[in-house]
Amino acid sequence: MWRERALIILVFLLHLIHGEDACPSSSCGKISNISYPFRLKGDAKGCGLTGYELSCKNNIALFSLYSGTFHVQAINYNNFTIRVVDPGLQQTNCSSLPRYFFSPSNFTNSYQLIPPFHRYYRPKDSSLYQTIHWVDWYYRTEPLVYEHIVFLNCSHRVIGKLKYVDTDGCLNWESKGYIYAIAGDLIAEDFEVGCHVKLVSPTSWRGLDTNTYFYDMMHTALLYGFEHSWIPLACEGRCVDYYNCYFSSSSQTLECYNEEPLKPSWGLYVLVF
Ligand SMILES: *[C@@H]1O[C@H](CO)[C@@H](O)[C@H](O)[C@H]1NC(C)=O
Ligand SMILES: *[C@@H]1O[C@H](CO)[C@@H](O)[C@H](O)[C@H]1NC(C)=O
Ligand SMILES: *[C@@H]1O[C@H](CO)[C@@H](O)[C@H](O)[C@H]1NC(C)=O
Ligand SMILES: *[C@@H]1O[C@H](CO)[C@@H](O)[C@H](O)[C@H]1NC(C)=O
Ligand SMILES: *[C@@H]1O[C@H](CO)[C@@H](O)[C@H](O)[C@H]1NC(C)=O
Repeated sequence: MWRERALIILVFLLHLIHGEDACPSSSCGKISNISYPFRLKGDAKGCGLTGYELSCKNNIALFSLYSGTFHVQAINYNNFTIRVVDPGLQQTNCSSLPRYFFSPSNFTNSYQLIPPFHRYYRPKDSSLYQTIHWVDWYYRTEPLVYEHIVFLNCSHRVIGKLKYVDTDGCLNWESKGYIYAIAGDLIAEDFEVGCHVKLVSPTSWRGLDTNTYFYDMMHTALLYGFEHSWIPLACEGRCVDYYNCYFSSSSQTLECYNEEPLKPSWGLYVLVF
């Protein structure tokens, strides 16, 4: 009897160490492989983690991040990323806009996922264009969000600033004001009095060239969506010091900075028994 019990505990511990469960994967629409740490609503208890629950609606997998619910585009278990797109965006409709506005407050309390913004902006007064600062986000992984698309409403036509891209008639929120989109960072020299940031949305699309100025391309970038990582979760128990764990883009695996990886040892199990 104690042997069986020990075996069950051992199997359980092995799962904990490897951070996986023995559940079959679930599927929803084009997301055919929903497995640990994710779970699909309705999956058996103990499958995946509750904070990583997807739901399935009209064959679209939905995932809640911060206070938004996003459409899942892809889950990649090799590099620990999930790519999501804002539900407000429609493929063939260049007038469609992201539903969610992103700001630093969205990331300060998120423990389980790396903030996708390697640079995020901190408006002291969100209505004041001049107070925007871009802050570097330091983390030993590749940035997941490469650029942002910033939508601005200006009281006048902006002349001589290439970065201010006309939305080519795609967007005209109200007849008053001029709507512009900017791909990439806002730096001091781009500031234009009379313009207000209306929307900031991230993208992980590497094809975005911030030196060509077409709204079309920005819309494509937004439709690609942005990536999120569960590396902090995957890093648990991997290295002696948790903060030494990082994803190496050259080896495409988790590695420990300045140390040997922790290997699950039998001694641990003996101790537990
Ligand atoms: C699904 O993901 C798991 C990793 O969680 C992997 O072992 C398995 O090969 C994947 N299956 C398919 C069909 O991609
Ligand atoms: C981000 O934070 C802002 C300000 O707190 C909030 O209005 C917005 O809904 C948040 N966005 C998401 C996607 O959670
Ligand atoms: C993760 O892998 C997917 C599929 O290969 C790729 O498209 C994506 O860019 C990768 N993300 C990162 C952060 O490496
Ligand atoms: C395109 O998107 C805009 C803004 O969301 C919406 O008002 C309009 O009805 C959409 N057009 C179509 C054809 O769906
Ligand atoms: C854009 O700005 C104009 C005046 O500068 C204002 O009347 C209008 O309501 C603004 N539109 C939006 C969508 O903020």
